[in-house]
Amino acid sequence: MSNYHIKHLEEYYQVYRKSIRDPENFWEEIAGEHFLWRKKWDKVLDWDFKKPEIKWFEGAQLNITENCIDRHLTTKSDQTAILFEPNDPNEEAEHITYGQLHKRVNQFANVLKEQGVKRGDRVCIYVPMIPELAISLLACARIGAIHSVVFAGFSSKALATRINDSDCKMVITADGSYRGSKTIDLKGIVDEALKSCKGVQTVLVAKRINSEITMKAGRDKWLQPLLDKASYKCKAEIMNAEDPLFILYTSGSTGKPKGMVHTTGGYMVYTAYTFKNAFQYKENDVYWCTADIGWITGHSYIVYGPLANGATTVLFEGVPSYPDFGRFWDIVDKHKVNQFYTAPTAIRALAKQGVELIQKYDLSSLKVLGSVGEPINEEAWHWYNDNVGKSKSPIIDSWWQTETGGIMITPIPYVTPTKPTYATLPFIGIQPCLMDEEGKQLKGNQVDGRLCIKFPWPSIARTIWGNHQRYKETYFSAYDNMYFTGDGALRDEVGYYRITGRVDDVIIVSGHNLGTAPIEDAINEHPAISESAIVGFPHDIKGSALYGYITLKDAGESRNHENLRKEINQLISDRIGPISKLDKIQFTTGLPKTRSGKIMRRILRKIASKDTSNLGDTSTLLNPECVQDIMDNAL
Ligand code: WTA
Repeated sequence: MSNYHIKHLEEYYQVYRKSIRDPENFWEEIAGEHFLWRKKWDKVLDWDFKKPEIKWFEGAQLNITENCIDRHLTTKSDQTAILFEPNDPNEEAEHITYGQLHKRVNQFANVLKEQGVKRGDRVCIYVPMIPELAISLLACARIGAIHSVVFAGFSSKALATRINDSDCKMVITADGSYRGSKTIDLKGIVDEALKSCKGVQTVLVAKRINSEITMKAGRDKWLQPLLDKASYKCKAEIMNAEDPLFILYTSGSTGKPKGMVHTTGGYMVYTAYTFKNAFQYKENDVYWCTADIGWITGHSYIVYGPLANGATTVLFEGVPSYPDFGRFWDIVDKHKVNQFYTAPTAIRALAKQGVELIQKYDLSSLKVLGSVGEPINEEAWHWYNDNVGKSKSPIIDSWWQTETGGIMITPIPYVTPTKPTYATLPFIGIQPCLMDEEGKQLKGNQVDGRLCIKFPWPSIARTIWGNHQRYKETYFSAYDNMYFTGDGALRDEVGYYRITGRVDDVIIVSGHNLGTAPIEDAINEHPAISESAIVGFPHDIKGSALYGYITLKDAGESRNHENLRKEINQLISDRIGPISKLDKIQFTTGLPKTRSGKIMRRILRKIASKDTSNLGDTSTLLNPECVQDIMDNAL
């Protein structure tokens, strides 16, 4: 019997050891006992990080939608699979049962086929957070087409680049989207993008906001009438375990976005297994991940992982601030959410609002709180723990990446004792290690280095679409025979990992390696400060010195800035040491962020270095306007 559900710490250690000693047998058991295969594999694992080439469950055949939908029909046909909560709280939530999901995915799959989409074709999905988004992913998977979801907040230029890179023949979109009190003209953005995408033959348009849009004859088709005519029976295409399931773009530190390719069998097994354990999902729980399906978090932990476990997964169309900053808590209360998974940037924004907005709602259903996407600072961790979890719901600070497909380092709630700002222990099957700059592996605990993974896991991305060489250079060339994550981490005295941030953010000051995250943590403890970002800038004596961009909670803060600067450096000195004190502190009204909420440090580094002649592409930022402001007030 495999250990599919881990319930206590000893069991974790025992299963972990088993997964490391004998990975092939371990994964063979998990895969064999908990999934539906049309044909079992010939070989569990074949790998070579030098080429690099990684294959899991080769020779096996399956369809992931049979695992996510069909196999639940005998027991869960009437259970909610997707719980859609619309942008407008007065619009009724929609419960899509497994039975209904089956029909809707099949109808959609039949429409795709009728429109000429074949196995292996790429389909671009540029759809807001409405049920059609999740359904379109599954419909592609049903017929073996490769989906490439582009977050429906990207510009037409960013969309066009992605459509062309993977040569998509179809785009699925909507007439528009709601975002709080605003609407966005999605179809207009698609039209603009397609001016430079010659390969797209068909655009399917879902109706959401009932806006007037133009439909290009022969190319653009309303989705609903086609669905209405389509049969709700569609045989699942039998795929090979290593056939691509999807492409998802992630930005690199340089160059155009990388189309990470994930394949079918290993991705399914790993996302399902991590979902079950990292969230301790139990039958009839209601699980909610606030990410957008346009990101990996949404792919793995709104759609595939939860559905593979027969879970109820909430799909929220709106934003945390509409109609007010209590919306998340309203939804938790209304749907009695048991597991809640969000990002530190959202937690910080909500923490700024005060606790009255939380106290209005009953959050007693919550059992597990998750965090992902960036290091969670200590202040945000405590705020989340105390006010949302009432100190009784463990926080899982889960570290992973688009490239890893699933959660890699995380506490298992109610199993692993948590520690603020620590992602704690590797998940089952994951073999992290820390490397120094000379390429030596750091042994023992209480060390600090570059985070690598020594051994493949089932959901590692297999290549970059159309550029295997770049895949090799980016992830497998920095260290011999290792996957390099690009992140720095430290391991504490008990072997817990803390992710310190991207290594491109590590700043060496007077020969000392300083991670930006701990410094930012210290600064953010200051009661007047909402957010901060530290970058390095060239310094005659120290090599590099630290430049802090700091946003105050109250923009009109009348306090003397010189005093504030002193207080900040005192805090840093106290928490980390005088070596980490900032040489320059600029107060900002906001920090430039990517659409997924990450601070764009590249721009801040350039401004700090007075190198603003070429700031690169700022058009994909969430808030490009703040860049000029920061430049005008640079020190
Ligand atoms: C960062 C998101 C600290 C990290 C799933 C990683 C984190 C990058 C954490 C991947 C965490 C993600 N603690 N840092 N819990 N989770 N990161 O591809 O730098 O959007 O390399 O995947 O986010 O971001 P991506």
